[in-house]
Amino acid sequence: MAELSERLSKLPPYLFVEISRKIAEKKARGEKVISFGIGDPDLPTPANIIERLCQAAHDPVNHRYPETEGLPELRQAIANWYRRRFGVELDPHEEVLPLIGSKEGIGHLSFCLLDPGDLALIPDPAYPVYSASTRLAGGEPYFLPLTEENNFLPELDAIPAEVAQRAKVLWLNYPNNPTAAVADLPFFERAVAFAKKHDLFLCHDAAYTEVAYDGFRPPSLLQVPGAKEVGVEFHSCSKSYNMTGWRIGMVVGNKRVVDALMRFKSNLDSGIPQAIQQAAIEALSGPQNAIAEHNEVYRRRRDKLLATLKMLGLQARKPLASLYIWARVPEGFTSEKFAAKLLDEAGVVVTPGTGYGQYGEGYIRLSLTLPDEELEEGLARLKIWAEAR
Ligand SMILES: Cc1ncc(COP(=O)(O)O)c(C=O)c1O
Repeated sequence: MAELSERLSKLPPYLFVEISRKIAEKKARGEKVISFGIGDPDLPTPANIIERLCQAAHDPVNHRYPETEGLPELRQAIANWYRRRFGVELDPHEEVLPLIGSKEGIGHLSFCLLDPGDLALIPDPAYPVYSASTRLAGGEPYFLPLTEENNFLPELDAIPAEVAQRAKVLWLNYPNNPTAAVADLPFFERAVAFAKKHDLFLCHDAAYTEVAYDGFRPPSLLQVPGAKEVGVEFHSCSKSYNMTGWRIGMVVGNKRVVDALMRFKSNLDSGIPQAIQQAAIEALSGPQNAIAEHNEVYRRRRDKLLATLKMLGLQARKPLASLYIWARVPEGFTSEKFAAKLLDEAGVVVTPGTGYGQYGEGYIRLSLTLPDEELEEGLARLKIWAEAR
């Protein structure tokens, strides 16, 4: 058979091979594993949203091909939501594009912004899609370390002048996956100024702004005056409304970039199933009380998990947002070794920080999206494991 594309070989090897193999082995032996691995809300989509989806599924209007640019009512609902939530004004015709989940749009945007050899500034650790799509588009990632010392915010001033000059794209993501760090508006102001100075496309992934605790309200990049001149922001119904399975997100902001992604996608996909667009309209426009209710569940889980990690001697900051806890592994372990040990000895799955980049070394990520009974069992297992050591 002929060779597969050169492009595919640029993807990094799957880092969790060993852990996935161990999980499969344990399951095959009938052993139960408790997973703090994936960030996928366990709580159901709110009933009013499902109801709208069901109604829309019965309407033959929604049985035909959707338009790439999405229903005008959905684009308007997204603009209204941005105004209500962030005080940001968006033109629903030119500055809003619904996506088949934000991951899809993030992945495809690299193809709109980068030519082979172009540089993209990407945080490390990070959600892997920024660097994977950069490489698939022929671009080159330049990694910006996120460390405890810099509060997991990239030091823009430390980027060498020639790198900033050559780069075309800067990716940011706050509230952050995997570090759970948050950014304030002054940071976004600095990022916008930096993007303007160096003529960069500024792409902010804001998937977690609605998952927040202790009264914290994560800001939008677009609250910075002039951000739209250089920036776009990705958002999603996935984490805000427990809709990861329905696959619907959006990009908003700079109209040239939004239009580029629309044109690119119109050649690849045929839009988002319209019943799902109707469900997103209900999510964004209907009652919002479910968000606070879900956050209260995550907050309780966060506090319990942090208390157990402390007993184990693992240091972690208390996150103000996101679905994750980013904990330091004990001295003498690598991320992968420690994750493997927890799996072998306690039957508990955590994600090694190195899955998100080299600066993830020394950390594990724990997700708060497992049902309460499983969380309790996971915590009990961790305590027994710690006492037996
Ligand atoms: C930082 C970040 N961005 C984007 C996504 C993708 O979300 P979706 O494609 O479901 O909108 C995820 C999913 O885990 C994420 O962690």
